[in-house]
Amino acid sequence: MARILITSAIPYINGIKHLGNLVGSQLPADLYARFMRARGHEVMFICATDEHGTPAELAAAKAGLPVAEFCAQMHEVQADIAKGFGLSLDHFGRSSSARNHRLTQHFAGALADNGFIEEVSEKQVYSIDDARFLPDRYITGTCPNCGYPNARGDQCENCTKQLDPTDLINPRSAISGSTNLEVRETKHLYLRQRALKGEIEGWIDSKADWPVLTTSIAKKWLNDGDGLQDRGITRDLFWGVPVMRGDKPWPGMEGKVFYVWFDAPIEYIACTAEWADANGKTDADWQRWWRTDMGAADVRYVQFMGKDNVPFHTLSFPATIMGSREPWKLVDYIKSFNYLNYDGGQFSTSQGRGVFMDQALSILPADYWRWWLLSHAPESSDSEFTWENFQSSVNKDLADVLGNFVSRVTKFVAAKFGPAVPEGGTLDARAEALIAELETRVRAYEAHMEAMEVRKAATELRAIWVAGNEFLQAAAPWTAFKTDPAAAAAITRLSLNLIRLYAVLSEPFIPKAAAQMLRDMNTGDRTWPGPVAEALAVLPAGHAFEVPEVLFRKITDEERADWQQRFAGVRT
Ligand code: 2FM
Ligand code: ZN
Repeated sequence: MARILITSAIPYINGIKHLGNLVGSQLPADLYARFMRARGHEVMFICATDEHGTPAELAAAKAGLPVAEFCAQMHEVQADIAKGFGLSLDHFGRSSSARNHRLTQHFAGALADNGFIEEVSEKQVYSIDDARFLPDRYITGTCPNCGYPNARGDQCENCTKQLDPTDLINPRSAISGSTNLEVRETKHLYLRQRALKGEIEGWIDSKADWPVLTTSIAKKWLNDGDGLQDRGITRDLFWGVPVMRGDKPWPGMEGKVFYVWFDAPIEYIACTAEWADANGKTDADWQRWWRTDMGAADVRYVQFMGKDNVPFHTLSFPATIMGSREPWKLVDYIKSFNYLNYDGGQFSTSQGRGVFMDQALSILPADYWRWWLLSHAPESSDSEFTWENFQSSVNKDLADVLGNFVSRVTKFVAAKFGPAVPEGGTLDARAEALIAELETRVRAYEAHMEAMEVRKAATELRAIWVAGNEFLQAAAPWTAFKTDPAAAAAITRLSLNLIRLYAVLSEPFIPKAAAQMLRDMNTGDRTWPGPVAEALAVLPAGHAFEVPEVLFRKITDEERADWQQRFAGVRT
């Protein structure tokens, strides 16, 4: 048994996430966590809300709430939605927690002690009309790298380049729209990433197995143009982790807070401490996941994120960890995703375009979305959500293939033999061929899941469902029953066992339906299959089962058209 630490990029608190955000981080992380648990490994699956910085301040101002209250409310909203989507998190924390405050200040102190922090007097954009500095997202303008007209002061969402607000062309205040701006001197702390460049580069080079998307982005920002830059890690903001050197005041930094991207990844660690606090555990209990001197050297740490988050996780966060010169766990594998587009355009939180997580759950259960999103995950390139494609996948894969199989088998057996696994007969050559096919497919499915090849895993799982359907169609127990009831018993005994096997294999993708299938099969046996022949003999003759309600319903053309229209506009 291995120990696997899994983190999903922590969503900003400023609003409910759209399906593109979900499929790029939390959902595949959940898929992997569920799979690893099913294989018997010890898993710690962590996510949180990213509560600091300009996104939080701006959204709270828009909602007319004090920022702390806004964050507390939105955290609950996001936590509920995460539950609704069946995300099997061990803890959903908050980057504004006391744990994260202390740990962020601790890292800053350690970095300073090791000479990796520099105090820089720099020029920042100041808005005369707003009477404040405009860090990060408080300022928008044209990206100097790609020309995108709505780039934010911290990063261009079009080309992913990390920016400084003073880089923007034609800048304007995001609060008032004012262009009455001037540049003023202010003092900030910088993380000397350049001094760590060799170490970071060596570390990235040692990760030969990382996905191309991850390493290509990391290398780009490591070597392109001016290469890795030192980064300002403090801001002139009100809301955030106050700048302290460990537990001591930091002279000259009064009234400033750490930059949200400095404290957010530290929350992965702090969140695990929050988990310990919430569950009556000790510090040693969370430290065994994170401190290599406390047992974490054996942990495999995997991160999930969208491609725009890759620079921070391959460069800045590792620089924080390395520069602390303390034995914290570095990530072992970064699974990153391209973007999911929406019906001919982009999903956009700022523009309210696309389907958001709460809206999705209001029209269909989580498993429908989970299946579509994961089986169309934007892995090798961007992918696109269209309502036609969604309808067709749900209706074919879930309703016609899996749902139909479960329904046909259980109804037939209940009608002809009664609601228990039938007795008699032996497996024929067709059944043996199915078992042989499944043996190959189940092992391939495992390999794809282990490699986090999400789409390939979904394709294999679908093929496993199809194989059962085709077997049932060809073996035709309804015909066999008329002349040879024992043969029909053998076919359906195998098929009922297939339902249990399907539940176990499908659980990482569609956990609620899988749980329903196990309940209907009246079993708690979730053992991951060894040899398929054995897995298909778990439910013995005489074992009672229930005929389930419809497992998956079809999406009608009217519904599709209605939703397409309903979600075509802009959410306010
Ligand atoms: O892109 C985002 O939604 C960020 N809030 C992700 C932060 S991930 C990490 F650093 F914690
Ligand atoms: Zn750009």
